[in-house]
Amino acid sequence: MPVIVTNDKPMGVWKPVPLREQMKEKGQSVPDYVVNPGDKLTVSSIKADVGSHTGHVQPHHKMLEKAEELLTQAIKDKLIIDGVVFRVGDDMNLTMSHTRGVGDEKIHKLAFDTFVEAGKIAQDMSLYGAMQDILVSEFSGNVQGMGPGVAELEFILRKTEPVIVFAADKTSPYAFNRPLYNMFCSPYNSIGLAVDPKFFAGFKFQIKHLKTGADGFFVSPEERTAIKAFLGSEEYAVAYVYSRQVEDDPVAVCSTTRLSFIAGKYVGKDDPVCIVRAQSGLPAVGEVVNAFHFPGLVPGGMRGSSLRPLMPCSIFNCDPTYNDGPPRVIGLGFQINRGEFIGPTDLLGDISFDESRRLALKIAEYMQRHGVFYPGILPDKELEYGGKPVIYKMYEDRFPGIYKKFRELEKKQLEAEAEFIKKAEQ
Ligand code: F6R
Ligand code: MG
Ligand code: MG
Repeated sequence: MPVIVTNDKPMGVWKPVPLREQMKEKGQSVPDYVVNPGDKLTVSSIKADVGSHTGHVQPHHKMLEKAEELLTQAIKDKLIIDGVVFRVGDDMNLTMSHTRGVGDEKIHKLAFDTFVEAGKIAQDMSLYGAMQDILVSEFSGNVQGMGPGVAELEFILRKTEPVIVFAADKTSPYAFNRPLYNMFCSPYNSIGLAVDPKFFAGFKFQIKHLKTGADGFFVSPEERTAIKAFLGSEEYAVAYVYSRQVEDDPVAVCSTTRLSFIAGKYVGKDDPVCIVRAQSGLPAVGEVVNAFHFPGLVPGGMRGSSLRPLMPCSIFNCDPTYNDGPPRVIGLGFQINRGEFIGPTDLLGDISFDESRRLALKIAEYMQRHGVFYPGILPDKELEYGGKPVIYKMYEDRFPGIYKKFRELEKKQLEAEAEFIKKAEQ
């Protein structure tokens, strides 16, 4: 249910307002740094969990206000054109427009420094998980690989440019696989694919193998079956989607960071962010958000170790509480006016997602009632916390010889896999 916001920032409710708009409302002058249609624009959406209350529920508004202060200064310094600070669950998100391209050191440093400053506030207030996603002590060039999640798109600005930023909490980059497949490949989701000739050229997917970072490229509609084979696996996630009508025009991007691979241990879920451009030969806004109407199961929720429905939520109602979940996704819609953000529209907060929320809550309860019995929690291999192997080891003597047998089985399995690959290569 939408929440009526009676004043600017009541406790626990954060209303994201683009910073240029805020500056104008305060009577401050805004720099003439803008981008015209036909020129290149970059939208960077960078997120991190640097502390929250109560437990892993939400960042404190003082942290978000600090972020707004620092990004406003960056607008004044003409480093960015515009910025929006928002949150989903315990994650802070900095969405910025600029002309510096993807992976720019100054933009990444701005994000890193902002998260560190917000994290210091969290530390001062003894908030939970303060600085959790800051895995390095010094910034060195690119925030990717240092903890925060990054989604960036550089594209030629159209005359009118609708852009949607989706952010999810208590889940992993895998959460966007099915929605993105459906948006760009399924006429059941996006009827434009079958009724608008502009779609017939199709789309190109850049799919990332999360552990190795290897990228594979596939085209739809021709390779839809292969795309599904990879996107159906939690080991792979969509990195980019490109248009084929306007050759290699990037139309969607997802953060694909796996913190555990960077830190070498579980340090929190890799709550993902995704940017999608819409309309005029791309899925309509309604088709884009349609992909989140079905609250499908995703890995995440309590201790990052459960399978729970991805619940579409309002930006005013995105506190994961029931069993640290269910995993939530919000959608902020913007029009881009010469680099300036107009919006946001609270796209997944609409009444038309009420039934999805109800269904999600029913599914969450159904899954919860399994307790620790699979599929109440993920299979051992996919558990984010390393606790279960420690428990198994504690009781090793109850299963005499089990580790020796494990090693023999592993050896056999490796031999069988090698044989399989050898045959496949012949
Ligand atoms: C899941 C998540 C939470 C925590 C849980 C335990 O992504 O963030 O479910 O895993 O609250 O947290 P700790 O181990 O910090 O007590
Ligand atoms: Mg947290
Ligand atoms: Mg989070």
